[in-house]
Amino acid sequence: GRVVPFRGRHQAGIITPAQDRLVFGAFDVVTDSAGALRDVLDAWTIAAEAMTQGRSVPADDGSPQAPPTDTGEALGLPPAALTVTIGYGPRLFARFGLATRRPSALAELPPLPGDRLDPARCGGDICIQACSDDPQVAFHAVRNVTRLGRGVVVLRWLQLGFGRTSSTTTGQQTPRNLMGFKDGTRNLRADDTAALDRHVWIGTETDQPWLIGGSYLVARRIRMLIEAWDRASLSEQERVIGRRKVSGAPLTGSREYDPPDFSAVRAGELVIPSDAHIRLASPEHNAGRRMLRRGYSYTDGIDLSTGELDAGLFFISFHKDPATFIAVQRILGTQDALREYIVHTGSALFVCPPGLQDGESWGRQLF
Ligand code: HEM
Repeated sequence: GRVVPFRGRHQAGIITPAQDRLVFGAFDVVTDSAGALRDVLDAWTIAAEAMTQGRSVPADDGSPQAPPTDTGEALGLPPAALTVTIGYGPRLFARFGLATRRPSALAELPPLPGDRLDPARCGGDICIQACSDDPQVAFHAVRNVTRLGRGVVVLRWLQLGFGRTSSTTTGQQTPRNLMGFKDGTRNLRADDTAALDRHVWIGTETDQPWLIGGSYLVARRIRMLIEAWDRASLSEQERVIGRRKVSGAPLTGSREYDPPDFSAVRAGELVIPSDAHIRLASPEHNAGRRMLRRGYSYTDGIDLSTGELDAGLFFISFHKDPATFIAVQRILGTQDALREYIVHTGSALFVCPPGLQDGESWGRQLF
């Protein structure tokens, strides 16, 4: 029944402890009226704050002649650590007189190696990331903002995630992704404030001071070629990642948190291979670049064209500058041993504004 505060310097759902479930909605704005959009964002603020406290969406008048304002499926459920995080996509700023509010760092992600993108799973003007320890609470949040936005926004795509694949606080156990490996061992942590200021939070370097304290959200739907992975030997799997499967230790260590030794050589060969995922993604290999990962495992049943599982990682990362993601993915998409076992099928970039203070709302913050 934990409540995560909705208001604060930063939005909840970024460095707050990663919950177990995700419902992520991307919306297109279908109105031409800035006022109508602002009103929806204000209504979303009220609804989101109420839902994160375990309350229903406040009713206009509660008339039995009208459909209920709240859809009801979360009645009696605890808040379950619900967080509702909003972000805005690049194309939104081309409309509604928002051009002067657009940060120059916000542009559609360029085509990247490893992409096999389905346009129906890409982009969007606004995103709502709802995370909770109860899947019904997270679904209820996205369903109700969708309903409140009727006529102004429409859902473009929706992704459910059923298990977190990252830790964001030191107290959390490292979960496993669908490849069976511990994921999040060397992730940024909420208590490392210096690193977060350096790599996650938008700061005074931005050309849009209203975004200071916000962050760029990259979403990538990465399908795992599970059947191929499951036929790979244990030692192949461990070489691909650069870690031991059971313990999560780097191939150069014996415990999960042992620092990897990327220069270690045995019998003339690098112990952590040159194409291992943890080597190519590491700050040591990327001029010190780091990111906060907060992704979820997903499955959408089977791919009817092949009969194979459609499952993988709904990758979410937060950045001070999305150029970091682009730089790292350019390396991973061309050299990573993992690329034989994955394909990126969805992609989107949003800027998440900073948190709201008392009396503020998303509509007034944007306009
Ligand atoms: C680390 C899995 C995609 C960036 C790791 C680790 C695993 C893993 C098991 C080691 C444990 C850890 O430190 O968290 C996967 C899988 C992926 C995937 C299964 C795809 C399905 C990506 C993508 C990026 C990325 C697309 C970014 C472009 C990172 C980073 C680290 C990491 C930055 C930590 C490296 C370090 O700090 O040393 N990943 N990953 N991963 N991954 Fe991935």
